Amino acid sequence: MAESMKGLHRTHRCTEVSNENIGETVTVMGWVQKRRNLGSLIFIDLRDRSGLLQIVFDEPKVGSEGFAKAETLRSEFVVAVTGTVEKRTAAVNENLKTGDIEVIAENIRILSESETPPFPIEENSQTKDDLRLRYRYLDLRRPDLQRNLMMKSKVAMLLRNFMAQEGFLEIETPILTKSTPEGARDYLVPSRVHPGNFYALPQSPQLFKQLLMCSGYDRYFQIARCFRDEDLRADRQPEFTQADMELSFVDVDDVIELNERLLQYVFREAIGVQVNLPIQRMTWREAMDRFGTDKPDTRFGMELVNVSELVVGCGFGVFTGALEQGGSVRGINVKGQGAMPRKKIDKLVEFAKGYGAKGLAYLAVNEDGSYKSSFAKFMTEEELHSLVEHMQGKPGDLLLFAADKNKLVWEVLGALRLELAKQLELIDSNQYNFLWVTDFPLLEWSEEENRFMAMHHPFTMPMEEDWDKIDSDPGAVRAKAYDIVLNGTELGGGSVRIHQNDIQEKMLEALGFTKESAYEQFGFLLDAFRYGVPPHAGLAYGLDRMVMLMMKCDSIRDVIAFPKVKDASCLMTDAPNVVDEKQLEELALVIDLEEEKEQ
Ligand code: AMO
Ligand code: AMP
Repeated sequence: MAESMKGLHRTHRCTEVSNENIGETVTVMGWVQKRRNLGSLIFIDLRDRSGLLQIVFDEPKVGSEGFAKAETLRSEFVVAVTGTVEKRTAAVNENLKTGDIEVIAENIRILSESETPPFPIEENSQTKDDLRLRYRYLDLRRPDLQRNLMMKSKVAMLLRNFMAQEGFLEIETPILTKSTPEGARDYLVPSRVHPGNFYALPQSPQLFKQLLMCSGYDRYFQIARCFRDEDLRADRQPEFTQADMELSFVDVDDVIELNERLLQYVFREAIGVQVNLPIQRMTWREAMDRFGTDKPDTRFGMELVNVSELVVGCGFGVFTGALEQGGSVRGINVKGQGAMPRKKIDKLVEFAKGYGAKGLAYLAVNEDGSYKSSFAKFMTEEELHSLVEHMQGKPGDLLLFAADKNKLVWEVLGALRLELAKQLELIDSNQYNFLWVTDFPLLEWSEEENRFMAMHHPFTMPMEEDWDKIDSDPGAVRAKAYDIVLNGTELGGGSVRIHQNDIQEKMLEALGFTKESAYEQFGFLLDAFRYGVPPHAGLAYGLDRMVMLMMKCDSIRDVIAFPKVKDASCLMTDAPNVVDEKQLEELALVIDLEEEKEQ
């Protein structure tokens, strides 16, 4: 029978009891981690979110009724224990915060019993993900997840502290709203009052925060929930949280300077990591050329080298063919891997093909200085030599080359570089390498849609130097956009916004909007800009990603209390699910799954 809390008060969390409390009476409450019977004594490890505390039941102290209760305890029972703190006489546990003390129970109440849980509640669980997620409320009892969520709460608090001190106002923006163009699909919510009409859940507070600048709230901040219907990955969830900000009367350097101080403060206070300022900056073009990605992991080298000019007249058709198509030939030097077995190299070729490469050319520099290569026979000794020299190839090195369109070469070698770093354990996981990536292209050509798309979003300001190219050469225009990258993950991103009507119109035109379609989508913003708009800029961090990197988690799911799985469903609640016919009627919706299947 579950007993009540009447007259009881918890005095400490489990690990708040320490050897300074020896001799005191304390009342602790929590879950039974495990019970051990040792002759006339019963021991339990009591667990709460702070950790474990050993409780000892000795019949003369706790009484026969109490002792009988203790005998019935099983894992995950919830109990309250009052007793005296004593120094442990035996079996001091160095691994436990409370390892040198124990509480000698004088009273116990069983507040609730538990069925046998479907998996043990323990650190570093080996239990399958699906089962853990189905019983997420039990999974969340595990110390590692509890630490993650406690850290997330702390980081949110630190961010709020910092922003408040810097004069930011926390302002909420709507969840039921209109589409915000961030590039993903929207989640839609049907309107009952306006049959056939839908709200969109916000992909970010972007338009509203810009409107708040128009309204004069010159420093806005929000811990904002965002929704994006896109493919899930290890660092992506359909709903996630941004630490979002917008500032008036600023330019790129102001935003970067403020955010560098923010990162320094938050990482120091949260996990004791010193972020050295200023944080390194790199243009998008340099990032692509050196690392093949706009979010480089700079904790190791193996940078890309462009060898196009060296191979332009060589006899290897794969290389010259790519150059003739306007592409490039680039390589990486995998130091000390010249003796990599052929089978392993073949695996790398397959890996590259997975990213769309047609192949991967290799050249190993043998210890005696000779070469072993998939393409040596197509090149003269001299050409090979200068290629190796340009790649700084030394005896024992393995050189890998990809030839194709720039974009593909970058993607393939960028991915290969990361894969090899993982395989060869080149990454120091204790390092936190921050990097600003700046000067992104404003627009990106979409083969799929056969038009330019905004690389960031349609309100991003082109660089002043490139304004005259918006009409004539839109693909070459750079943006006043910046991303903050941590260890190869995009932690946050933002931009200076367009506040001039004529530039905004040109931008929308370049994106293929007609005046009407632009007005239909975000006319309210364009209108607002007609009534006095301050120059403004902003940035948003992925809060989940930030905590994920701080806690060195492999998946973003480990820092979200109730996450979704790959197909965007929730295994615990079974969302999304079907709804009543009556609800559909109210919303004037008809479900036609046949039609869905046919498509
Ligand atoms: P952006 O789209 O770059 O910018 O998003 C900002 C940051 O949000 C995080 N993020 C995600 N985290 C988890 N799951 C997702 N599906 C997901 N998508 C994005 C990333 C990313 O860097 N309105 C602009 C910001 C601005 O311009 O001020 C925006 O949303 O860490
Ligand atoms: P092939 O002439 O197709 O037999 O290719 C000769 C070598 O070049 C093989 O090692 C291929 O893996 C490699 N290769 C083929 N296509 C490419 C490419 N686009 N980039 C780099 N190497 C390639």
